[in-house]
Amino acid sequence: MNEGKAGVTLKVVLIGNSGVGKSSFMNRYVNHRFTNMYRATIGTDFLSKTLNIDGHTVTLQLWDTAGTERFQSLGTPLYRGAHGCMLVFDVTSKASFSALELWRKEFLLQAEPQVPADFPFIVMGNKSDLGDREVSSRTALQWCEEIGAHYFEGSAKEDVGIEKPFLRAAEIGLQQYKKHTLENTGHFQITCKQPTETRNTCEC
Ligand code: GTP
Ligand code: MG
Repeated sequence: MNEGKAGVTLKVVLIGNSGVGKSSFMNRYVNHRFTNMYRATIGTDFLSKTLNIDGHTVTLQLWDTAGTERFQSLGTPLYRGAHGCMLVFDVTSKASFSALELWRKEFLLQAEPQVPADFPFIVMGNKSDLGDREVSSRTALQWCEEIGAHYFEGSAKEDVGIEKPFLRAAEIGLQQYKKHTLENTGHFQITCKQPTETRNTCEC
């Protein structure tokens, strides 16, 4: 199949408390690097990675946000048009897990997806390499079942469980993209980054 070079670009936003490892997780996935040094993200960072899903070229545009509260007012324009959202917490911090409910609500409020109940969330429990765990897989899974999210856990430090959550984000983001395009134009065309027909009607 000839899809052209560009393929589809999917916007996926990473959110969660400061220090849970959003940047580390993304850096491990895209650049295969990790550092123990903590440098808080200021504003937003972007990283892109191109992958192949069912024979389609998909570029994941990953938006790494700052977990500190003072940057949360940046949310509105940041979240809009997202095809997926990764809620990241630290398995050794119960507070970071509990905070996800708020992060999720805030995201839905500001992203304004067409059908909020259907919006695809991925939940990622990071730092599984550490011994002092405060959130069990069972607790996390239970909440994910309640909200219809996909749950993964792993460690950016040890390079464990990194690929799968991003792959799932790309898969469900692609479904979201197809749905948007179908709703707005009545057809789906994977060869264009943004079909010209939708340019004035689609916000994504
Ligand atoms: P903000 O940018 O402030 O929102 O934080 P963040 O969520 O991006 O966290 P960041 O990736 O900067 O990581 C915070 C600290 O946790 C750093 O010191 C990392 O080295 C450490 N860290 C990240 N992932 C892991 C992990 O899997 N295991 C362990 N042990 N430490 C980790
Ligand atoms: Mg960061």
